[in-house]
Amino acid sequence: MAPVYSRRMTDATDAQLAAQYEAFPYPQRDPRDEARRLVVGSPGHLREIDHWVFGATRPAARPLHALFAGGGTGDGTLMLAQQMATAGRPGSVTWLDRSAAALQIAQARAAARGLRNIFWQSGSLLDLPGAGLGPFDYIDCCGVLHHLPDPAAGLRALTSVLAPDGGLGLMVYAPYGRTGVYMVQDALRLLAPSDQPPAARLDVARRVMRHLPATAWLRQNRFLDDHVNGGDPGLYDLLLNPRDRAFTVPQLVALLARAGLRVACWIEPLRYDPLFWLPDPKLRARAEALDPTARAALAEALTGNISAHIVYCVRADAPSDPATPPRQRADPLAPDAVPIGREVTGEQLAGFIQPDGTITMAFDGLRAPIPLPAMAKAILRLVDGKRTVGEIGATLASRGSTPEAFTRAWRATFTALEQVNRLLLAAPA
Ligand SMILES: C[S@@+](CC[C@H](N)C(=O)[O-])C[C@H]1O[C@@H](n2cnc3c(N)ncnc32)[C@H](O)[C@@H]1O
Repeated sequence: MAPVYSRRMTDATDAQLAAQYEAFPYPQRDPRDEARRLVVGSPGHLREIDHWVFGATRPAARPLHALFAGGGTGDGTLMLAQQMATAGRPGSVTWLDRSAAALQIAQARAAARGLRNIFWQSGSLLDLPGAGLGPFDYIDCCGVLHHLPDPAAGLRALTSVLAPDGGLGLMVYAPYGRTGVYMVQDALRLLAPSDQPPAARLDVARRVMRHLPATAWLRQNRFLDDHVNGGDPGLYDLLLNPRDRAFTVPQLVALLARAGLRVACWIEPLRYDPLFWLPDPKLRARAEALDPTARAALAEALTGNISAHIVYCVRADAPSDPATPPRQRADPLAPDAVPIGREVTGEQLAGFIQPDGTITMAFDGLRAPIPLPAMAKAILRLVDGKRTVGEIGATLASRGSTPEAFTRAWRATFTALEQVNRLLLAAPA
């Protein structure tokens, strides 16, 4: 497909950024690997979009048109396109990026999978207004806004092509979990200024990493590995990127508000719930008194290990605009609701339950044992993405459980596993 608009660069730093992703398309991917695995993650996962953006109320039969702005070498684009193709879901996925090198890799990966539901657009996301694309039901912008000269302008450009009832999935860097990164970036600006050729800068970065003093915070930070495992593109992106800024929770919420958006869900919700991390009753009472943004900010500051925020967001309710109704969310207790595992099946989830009745999750070094009710195992074994809550309840009733006991156990199981983004509700047919 021919480019519809320019590869506009807004300042000299942005030109360096564009040159970086031409030289080092990100992330490093080999199209031959498509034969053995699909890269899956957040945001942009079909089941998460169904659940967190549309509240499991948007029919699966309704075509879904998605945009991946700054799609890079195609991880998110391919994931959603493949998930839609596998599930027979109508609609399309549009990949948009300025990098011609990334386009080549993303297209080769899509060809390797035989995907036919992707449109390719070369250009700057800043030129979306008036470009004649959209409207899109879902817009994904993963790891891009924090590189832009003006992230708010980028977000405004995205919302200009968002359908009125659509939603976004964003990933932006977060400061505390990136501890050490900006110090090494400062060092490299001195040793490998940005006017030097990329290969020379990379060489310096590799040498610095080999000799980084034991006290350097990046060496203490066990939760970042792009510079170690991400090849040249990973190392360059983390340590030599000409512009990246990190957002705390309140800074990101303010950025969203300026674009008329609000948070639908932080991924994973539990990571942003300070009550989970504060067993002390006095502290819990204080945390409970905080508003949702302050609570999420508290969890971010307490845990200190969030290196990127993944957030689904929707248009802020506009009470003055009767055309924008408040969002609906399916009731997980409704008999016709269909629970579905995000990636693993209910049977597999049941298998993860420990003898003490918990499932242990790990979030970047933080262990979180999730307590589940005694009936959780039996319930989860019946969760297959097809059975309704009513059918699951009826099966367990036939084995002797009372409706009240099932409802109590189902509510507790679903709430606990939804909070860790493992158990969701499927889109209605
Ligand atoms: C860190 S990569 C992220 C790629 C992909 N979203 C992912 O998470 O795997 C950032 C991407 O944003 C693209 N990008 C940066 N500024 C852009 C702009 N103004 N318009 C379109 N793409 C842009 C770059 O070319 C690059 O491919």
